[in-house]
Amino acid sequence: MKNYDLYATMGTGFEAVVAKELQNLGYNTTTENGRVFFKGNIGDIIKTNINLRTADRIKILLKEFKALDFETLYDQIFNYDWAQLLPVDAKFPVSGRSVKSKLHSEPDIQSIVKKAIVDKMTQQYHRRGFLPETGNLYHLDIYINKDIARISLDTTGESLFKRGYRVEHGGAPLKENFAAGLLKLTPYNGTHPLIDPFTGSGTLAIEAALIARNIAPGLWRNFAFNNFDWVDNNLYKQEIENAKSKISKNHAPIIASDIDQSILEIAKVNANNAGVLDDIRFKQVAIKDFATDLTNGIIIANPPYGQRLKDKTSARKIYQEMGNVLGNLSSFNQYYLTSDVEFEKYFGKVANKKRKLFNGNIRTDFYQYWHTKK
Ligand SMILES: C[S@@+](CC[C@H](N)C(=O)[O-])C[C@H]1O[C@@H](n2cnc3c(N)ncnc32)[C@H](O)[C@@H]1O
Repeated sequence: MKNYDLYATMGTGFEAVVAKELQNLGYNTTTENGRVFFKGNIGDIIKTNINLRTADRIKILLKEFKALDFETLYDQIFNYDWAQLLPVDAKFPVSGRSVKSKLHSEPDIQSIVKKAIVDKMTQQYHRRGFLPETGNLYHLDIYINKDIARISLDTTGESLFKRGYRVEHGGAPLKENFAAGLLKLTPYNGTHPLIDPFTGSGTLAIEAALIARNIAPGLWRNFAFNNFDWVDNNLYKQEIENAKSKISKNHAPIIASDIDQSILEIAKVNANNAGVLDDIRFKQVAIKDFATDLTNGIIIANPPYGQRLKDKTSARKIYQEMGNVLGNLSSFNQYYLTSDVEFEKYFGKVANKKRKLFNGNIRTDFYQYWHTKK
């Protein structure tokens, strides 16, 4: 099988987490901002799409070259063997980005690349300047950074955060891969209890259950590669079966609570869709009344942020209640994500560690408190 240069993309701050995930799957990696590179064949493209919890996408790096002018850009793209990648009827949109480069007009970069591919394919397929583009989707992107151009093919389709277990609702859920990334920044592996006292639609608890039971996050969805002509569907079925055979049963308790019963009903539907309803104990309780007999575990949550000024006071009251109730649970490592830079003051304790992360476009801190008692 052909070997490819591959890379995973991810949100800023999660490069090391994705690199670790890839290494655990057996790959050698190199990292740059927002990308982790590795090598592999079609089986590896399938395996990484199905198994990575924190990445956004897996792409094939088709070609990398220096491009200081449009002529070079055209020639380098034209010189690639497009017919071995794209069938004659392929639909192949090209998106373009340029950063700190001589070639900076993104619309021009996009249309030159598209033209070079069309010209080459019409020649290779003996078509007269016309390609139907009525077939399967192959999304290409051209990225020029400091004059180095990279042309890549997306193998993922809809971003990997879309696992396929979630029902839509009006709340502000964490993206699934972001929630998994937060969990991967903790030592959580299912052997100790986990509590999310602001569970909302249940994303952190569900992702924790998937980790605890070693359930691959990509079992319920399709990927762009499913429609590539050169991907054997049997390989895909094999990888799915392989992932299913690794699912385990036993793990420590996962508690998911929230003040709002209606959001808990949504969380239960999501957990059921993900096959982990029986792995999570859902309960309706306000944080001020929260209590647990469990010890030596992890508490993780994104409580309300109070983004709007009028909500700030009530969010800060909740942080005070958290401090009163959770602050005493000193055998737990605790992790809280919020955009409120004064969280520690209201929680009543300075974090052992803070990590800046972007939840979508909201700048947040991940406040980390280590246990003080075994
Ligand atoms: C930012 S959302 C959490 C979103 C969640 N991580 C998800 O992915 O869906 C905050 C949650 O805190 C809950 N909440 C607000 N006040 C609370 C309180 N006093 N006690 C417990 N939960 C509360 C809300 O109902 C909401 O579901």
